[in-house]
Amino acid sequence: MNKQNQIADDKKPVVAMHGITKRFGGVVALDGVDLSAYAGEVLAIVGDNGAGKSTLIKILTGVYQPTQGQITLDGKPFVMGNHSDAIAAGIDAVYQNLAIADHLTPAENLFLGSELTSSLMGMTVLNNKRMKEEAARVLKDRLGVQLKSMDVATESLSGGQRQAVAIARAVRHDNLRVLVMDEPTAALGPQETARTLQLIKTLRDQGLIVIVISHSLDDVFEISDRIHVQRRGKCVGVVKTSETTNEEVLGMIVGAKQAA
Ligand SMILES: Nc1ncnc2c1ncn2[C@@H]1O[C@H](COP(=O)(O)OP(=O)(O)OP(=O)(O)O)[C@@H](O)[C@H]1O
Ligand SMILES: [Mg+2]
Repeated sequence: MNKQNQIADDKKPVVAMHGITKRFGGVVALDGVDLSAYAGEVLAIVGDNGAGKSTLIKILTGVYQPTQGQITLDGKPFVMGNHSDAIAAGIDAVYQNLAIADHLTPAENLFLGSELTSSLMGMTVLNNKRMKEEAARVLKDRLGVQLKSMDVATESLSGGQRQAVAIARAVRHDNLRVLVMDEPTAALGPQETARTLQLIKTLRDQGLIVIVISHSLDDVFEISDRIHVQRRGKCVGVVKTSETTNEEVLGMIVGAKQAA
C-alpha cells in the first residue's frame, strides 16, 4: 500500500480528481492523473516546466474542462462548467500572473465584479465605506495584514501586500474550502516570501485546504503536509513531507526515482 492510500484510509478527501487526462490538440498535458486533498492540509504540487501542474489546477478550478476523468467533492461527482462554478462550491485560485487591477484600491480589487451596494433616495449606489471596512477586516482578521492606508492604488503596494490582496479576494467568500496558488512566491523577495509562506500556514490552520504549486523545494518543505509530484503529465508519486527528503523529491521530479 502506498503512502497516499494510507492517508486515504484514515480520512476522506474533500476534493479528489480521478484519472484526469487533458489534451490540447496533439499535446497530452495530463495523462490519467489522480489527486486528493484533505481538510486542513497544505498540498504541494511540484514538477518540471511543462509537467502539467498549472493545467491540473486549472481543471480543479473549472477554468479548463478535462478531456477525460472526474472530480468529486465530498465524495460526490462534481461537474463544473466554468470557474464561477468552482467559486460557488468553495474552490478558488490565485494565479501565477496575479489578476489584480493595479489602478484600483485594495477594496475595489476585493469586490471587483461583486460590488456591495446600498440604496440612497431610491437609487442604487456603491457602498464604498462598507467595502473598505470589509476589505480591511478580511486582510487583518484572516491574513494578519494591515495596510498603512486603504485609499491607495494597489500598484503602490509591495509584492507581498499585492499578493495578500489577491488572496483576500478569494478568502473573503465565507464558503471557501480550497485555495489554489500557482507559484505564489515566484516574484517575491526573501522577506515577502517568508510572509507569504506564513500566510499559507495561517490559512491552513483556519481549516482551509491550500494547494500550492512551487518550484522552490525549500518553500515546499517549509509549508506542505504532502507533496504531489508531476512528471511529463503524470503523477509519479505522492509523499508525506515529514517522511521524505529534498533529494528524494528531486529524484522523482527528474525521473530518477519513483515513490515506494
Ligand atoms: N492552452 C494550452 N494550449 C496548448 N498547450 C498547452 C496549453 N496549456 C498548457 N499546454 C501544454 O501542456 C503542458 C503542460 O503545461 P502546464 O502549463 O500545465 O505546465 P506546468 O507544469 O505548469 O509548467 P511551468 O512550471 O512551466 O508553469 C505543456 O506541454 C504545455 O505546453
Ligand atoms: Mg505552470
